[in-house]
Amino acid sequence: MPSRVLFRGARVVDPASRRDGVADVLVEDEAIAAVGMDVTGGSNAVVVDGGGLVLAPGLVDLHAHLREPGYEHKETVETGSRAAAAGGYTAVCAMPNTDPVTDNAAVVMEVRNLADKAGLCDVFPAGAITRGLDGESLTDIGEMAETGVRLFTDDGKCVQSSRVMRLALEYAKAFDVIVCQHAQDEALTEGWQMHEGFYSALLGLTGAPSAAEAVVVARDLALARLTGGRLHLTHISSDESVQLLERDKARGPRVTADVTPHHLALIDEDLISYDTNLKVNPPLRSAEDRQSLRLALTGGVLDAVATDHAPHAVEDKEQEFDQAPPGTTGLETSLAVILTELVEPGLLSLIDAMERMSTGPARILGLDDHGGPIEPGRPANLVLFDPAARWIVGGTEHPFASMARNSAFTGRTLGGRVVHTMLRGTFTVREGEPTR
Ligand code: DOR
Repeated sequence: MPSRVLFRGARVVDPASRRDGVADVLVEDEAIAAVGMDVTGGSNAVVVDGGGLVLAPGLVDLHAHLREPGYEHKETVETGSRAAAAGGYTAVCAMPNTDPVTDNAAVVMEVRNLADKAGLCDVFPAGAITRGLDGESLTDIGEMAETGVRLFTDDGKCVQSSRVMRLALEYAKAFDVIVCQHAQDEALTEGWQMHEGFYSALLGLTGAPSAAEAVVVARDLALARLTGGRLHLTHISSDESVQLLERDKARGPRVTADVTPHHLALIDEDLISYDTNLKVNPPLRSAEDRQSLRLALTGGVLDAVATDHAPHAVEDKEQEFDQAPPGTTGLETSLAVILTELVEPGLLSLIDAMERMSTGPARILGLDDHGGPIEPGRPANLVLFDPAARWIVGGTEHPFASMARNSAFTGRTLGGRVVHTMLRGTFTVREGEPTR
């Protein structure tokens, strides 16, 4: 007897089919079996009342640090997968700045095996561009690509050498994979603590100018054009970068880019608190930059929201500001941040929000099984959420599933809670609680 789950009467928001309306969705075993009005699931179906809730394709994150192997005191593939599921994600691309670095097929396989064992989220390990993230010696991109790696990045570090970046893009073209850049000119960001501007002067913290990002963005756009390799620019943070991207995209949609929820929600002025959870790389920028990022996401100059989930141990962040490592967690708050900051005020439609958080990133990574459409025969990778539920980040009512506590949104009230997450027909989150 097949197992059946009937989501009854939810607002189905599915960017891939442009469906946005109330419907029933029947899941049978691993796949969607029916979508429509008055679908019946038979007597053995588990019926989920979707009244007032939104059913969307499971979210897809292009950028999360799961920390394993090597930094299991910060996060593991299992706890990171749990955080992902809790946040509504069914697929996550894991960053390679692990120890050892994910710069060869053996580490890729190790991360995949850990993710399979956890079974809470599909994890796609990214490969490093250079060995040990040394910025100089290219990894065996072909070998990792053959095992299915789709995205290569030295994230956490920026590839400084134009020559290395050119070569990486040439290999990316040959193997049909993506080079993802963390754009940051190191010569302009030595000793940085926050965005360079009025508030860095006020707070006496060393600044990193927006130009440090923009000069690399400009260079890499030129190199992508030169080589024909696929470039993805991650965690874009400034108006200058947006303008460069906009100009480049007008010449053809080859380059893609993402932005984090924290850069869409927070600004440099917030650092007046000296809260180390607000220290992120790239730094939170000015109010004008945030406005530009919001408009770029709405208009499609920025293709995706990516969490840059960067878990750290409590003792890492409980240090002097200049000693604390950069990073905020994000997997469990991203949906609520986007709903609260962009959808509720009417800056972004719900269907476009789901496009930028699920369908768009799935398309960038070439993940056929994720991002919808919600149609019969498709894998049942779904999230059901309550857009109206308000909750306090880090509060006792909703403890973090992640091992880490370093959320930039701790203490804030956000709108939007995940009720169920489903991976290939199996609940990974049920009534807001991870199932394992
Ligand atoms: O804030 C960040 N933390 N940005 C990065 O690029 C790296 C990340 C980390 O690994 O902690």
